[in-house]
Amino acid sequence: MAPVPQNGLVAVTGAAGFVGGWVVRRLLDKGYRVRACVRSVSDPARTGFLRAMPAFASGRLTLHEADLDRSGCFDPIFAGCHGVAHLSHVSDYKDMDYIAGVCANVIGSIERATSVTRVVVTSSIAAVISEMDLQELVRRPVCDEDRFPDELNPKRTPQRGQGYSMGKVSAERLFSQAAQRSGRWESIACCPGDNIGPIQSAHQKDMGPWQHLIEQMLMGECHQTGVYRPWMPVDVRDDADCHIGLLESPLVHNGERYLAWSTERRNVEDICADIDRLLPELRHDTPAVTDEFPEGIRRREVEMRAIWAGCELRNDRIRAVTGIRFRPLDESLRDCVESLLSVAGVTPRVRAADGVPTTPGERS
Ligand SMILES: NC(=O)c1ccc[n+]([C@@H]2O[C@H](COP(=O)([O-])OP(=O)(O)OC[C@H]3O[C@@H](n4cnc5c(N)ncnc54)[C@H](OP(=O)(O)O)[C@@H]3O)[C@@H](O)[C@H]2O)c1
Repeated sequence: MAPVPQNGLVAVTGAAGFVGGWVVRRLLDKGYRVRACVRSVSDPARTGFLRAMPAFASGRLTLHEADLDRSGCFDPIFAGCHGVAHLSHVSDYKDMDYIAGVCANVIGSIERATSVTRVVVTSSIAAVISEMDLQELVRRPVCDEDRFPDELNPKRTPQRGQGYSMGKVSAERLFSQAAQRSGRWESIACCPGDNIGPIQSAHQKDMGPWQHLIEQMLMGECHQTGVYRPWMPVDVRDDADCHIGLLESPLVHNGERYLAWSTERRNVEDICADIDRLLPELRHDTPAVTDEFPEGIRRREVEMRAIWAGCELRNDRIRAVTGIRFRPLDESLRDCVESLLSVAGVTPRVRAADGVPTTPGERS
């Protein structure tokens, strides 16, 4: 089946989001025509940055209102498109029937738009590494495309916090099965790591969660990350390029999944301290880490960190099919911080220095 042709027409769901917004921008940079799907086209806070893109003025970028929860709403948007990058979140990750229904809505519109040949469905590394029993990562430490969480663990339920991971695995399968039945289009899953990098619109500072955690660090709060997992980053711009690479690649096939992460990893406390290392001019007042885990979890900190350290993160497959070269985390972190300050107007907590004003940018 054909990949998306050069300068072809691509619909992007979740286009006002952190990752979706970058997929839109990079597609336009590469010459594509884009239909950006948002829930409210008239919300300037969420769509202003899309309207400000030069391609919106020419009509190469158009905005379309669509809510995943409304069956058929993507029909007129997908009609005539060559590809779909399906990035949007769903409204509820606890209800698997709801998730199946939402997938059916999007799949139905893809089926009716007879022009679509390639769909990239955004999954997550949560669909690879999210385990109820961390020992499963000891038994199977290689984190590549073939790895799925232990789906037979009886504790793997939405009620115990696995809904996101379960919903993503389920969506990957529902799309690839539908594509298999159709024979006309193919579905490729992209499983991104922790997205870090510049926000393009102020509203994106509260999403993430990674850019929001960095915002909190800037403002003087640093929270320990779940089960002491180090951040396993991908720059949001690289993630967008991975999505586009998967739309374009002649080397991928229906049902395949690709991990989009740099394979770097860094603990949250080091990320927080790195703001000052990377941007000493800011004089960030590095906060101490707040660990709110119950005592039973805190006692296992060393053990849990060792489990994560023993995991082998792989990205060779996505590099082979897309040619992507991942940015270093330092660059993503620096650009994320600068965008939080400049785009979202975040006021950082900074160290006072002998009579020197503490407002960044106003110091000599
Ligand atoms: N950020 C990460 O680190 C990360 C890591 C792994 C995977 N992912 C996946 O990547 C995708 C994008 O993540 P993100 O960080 O860019 O998220 P985000 O900034 O929260 O954006 C997600 C978008 O989803 C849209 N959305 C939510 N519910 C919707 C519904 N019922 N109908 C239509 N649109 C809906 C929202 O659209 P409106 O703004 O128009 O309301 C929102 O802009 C998600 O699928 C996420 O699971 C993200």
